[in-house]
Amino acid sequence: GSHTCVELQNAGYDVVVLDNLSNSSEKSLERVEKITGKPVKFYKKDILDREGLNEVFEKEDIDSCIHFAGLKAVGESVVKPWEYYENNIAGTLTLVDVMRKHGVKNIIFSSSATVYGDPAIIPITEECPKGTCTNPYGWTKSMLQKADPEWNVVLLRYFNPIGAHKSGLIGENPNGIPNNLMPYITQVAVGKLKELGVFGNDYDTPDGTGVRDYIHVVDLAKGHVKAVKKLEDNSGLSIYNLGTGKGYSVLDIVKNFEAATGIKIPYSIKPRRAGDVATCYSDATKAKKELGWEAEYDIKDMCADSWNFQQKNPNGYND
Ligand code: UFG
Repeated sequence: GSHTCVELQNAGYDVVVLDNLSNSSEKSLERVEKITGKPVKFYKKDILDREGLNEVFEKEDIDSCIHFAGLKAVGESVVKPWEYYENNIAGTLTLVDVMRKHGVKNIIFSSSATVYGDPAIIPITEECPKGTCTNPYGWTKSMLQKADPEWNVVLLRYFNPIGAHKSGLIGENPNGIPNNLMPYITQVAVGKLKELGVFGNDYDTPDGTGVRDYIHVVDLAKGHVKAVKKLEDNSGLSIYNLGTGKGYSVLDIVKNFEAATGIKIPYSIKPRRAGDVATCYSDATKAKKELGWEAEYDIKDMCADSWNFQQKNPNGYND
């Protein structure tokens, strides 16, 4: 969200932020202001709070919404399915209903490569059939559809976002022990965690470890600016993969991180993690053709920028 604020403001848009701060910090918005030199309007509200949303839509002149307010940890969704269905499904329904009441019919929804399940086609195009989701998080991303012909909807299917803004002022700051690979690696590098556990080395991949399509978060944010422009053309329903089209294994990421930073990452091989697939990477040519968007940063930038943020903010936004 914070990275998208930066790119939207840089592109000349006025941004209003609504967040309940359940997995974020208001300080990130101060940092956004520092980067862009422009103030960010902020409301601390919950997406399930219909009255709160109404107030914001009454006060502000809103054209389009980018809906990032989803819970997003696969493992946690298995333990807390009710919270995931309530926040992600009921939250979206509440937002859409309030938008409808205020005549706002443009929305960008954060979808996920997880909707493809164990993908039937590699690289994954948008035509790849949706797979069987193995967790509640996946269902909450898969079941939302466009029904009203007057709405313009862009579904962005993110692959694996990593990296951070070049300034080192904003970046990823997960609650507790990280679930995802890159924040785990950066916390090993900064000395907060002892070693990386590599979840399985017996997959049918070149080195046996899981292959993913890692994308720099700034590229991802720029994809949202292009998607906002798409909405302005009355585009109906559009679905785009946001990835680089390249697959890297877990061990490739470790090697690239070590090369980019000069820091050794100790690791050991652990059993496979439930629900993981062997290989998942995108064909992102549709976004290039229709949005004029393409990822610009490579894996070296992603590793260096993730580390730059972690190094400058060892305790996240609490420093
Ligand atoms: N991995 C490890 N050790 C770790 C963490 C991850 O080996 O400590 C491996 C995983 O097994 C996988 C790869 O690193 O092979 C990437 O794992 P992440 O947890 O970083 O990301 P996932 O691909 O599992 O999931 C991410 C998002 C989901 C999203 C999905 C879509 O977290 O929200 O991409 O592909 F749905």
